[in-house]
Amino acid sequence: MTPPTLETERLILGEIREEDLDGWAELMGDPDSARYIGGTLNRAQSWRAMASFAGCWSLKGFGMFSVVEKASGRWIGRLGPWQPEGWPGTEVGWSILKSAWGQGYAAEGATAAIDWAFANLGWHEVIHVIHVENVRSIALAERLGSTDLGPRVLPAPLDKYNVHAWGQPREQWLARRAAGSR
Ligand SMILES: CC(C)(COP(=O)(O)OP(=O)(O)OC[C@H]1O[C@@H](n2cnc3c(N)ncnc32)[C@H](O)[C@@H]1OP(=O)(O)O)[C@@H](O)C(=O)NCCC(=O)NCCS
Repeated sequence: MTPPTLETERLILGEIREEDLDGWAELMGDPDSARYIGGTLNRAQSWRAMASFAGCWSLKGFGMFSVVEKASGRWIGRLGPWQPEGWPGTEVGWSILKSAWGQGYAAEGATAAIDWAFANLGWHEVIHVIHVENVRSIALAERLGSTDLGPRVLPAPLDKYNVHAWGQPREQWLARRAAGSR
């Protein structure tokens, strides 16, 4: 399936393209950004990772979006639905270039992606799989109204990571959005 294009106030969420590789390599090459998403990757490894995220759309009919900042046209990250084999639930995940943190971009993009997932995928719950020390990601999950659902075990070789699922049921998200909250 070709990913749809979603537009928010400041962002375009769209298809993962090969020309996004510079951004992926920057994201995955930065130790601070990559610490809780499997560790740093070089450019060639980043391409393989990018290809697997893009391929998720073909295999499952959903996947993460590339996130482009409208004002500059630059790729600033990837976020969206994610449920690889053995995953502990229906996730919307997020990773943004460090230079774009602190502007509410992840929250803005994740909101659009969660809206899209609940409208299109028949999900009953959204989760966010987060390392217990990833304070920025936990703060984002809380900002979106998710709560700590407890520890989860990821499929090997990721089973060594100490992660919790944060999340909320569909009804809670829809009520929150109907009340005008992000
Ligand atoms: C997790 C991650 C996406 C969070 O990004 P973020 O920019 O902190 O998250 P948000 O988009 O919610 O932005 C919130 C910040 O923007 C600020 N902000 C500025 N303008 C804003 C606006 N218009 N709306 C909302 N927040 C705004 C908030 O005050 C907050 O600032 P603070 O961090 O100083 O408290 C980012 O740290 C990241 O990509 N990390 C590396 C990869 C990773 O670990 N991914 C998660 C795996 S589980």
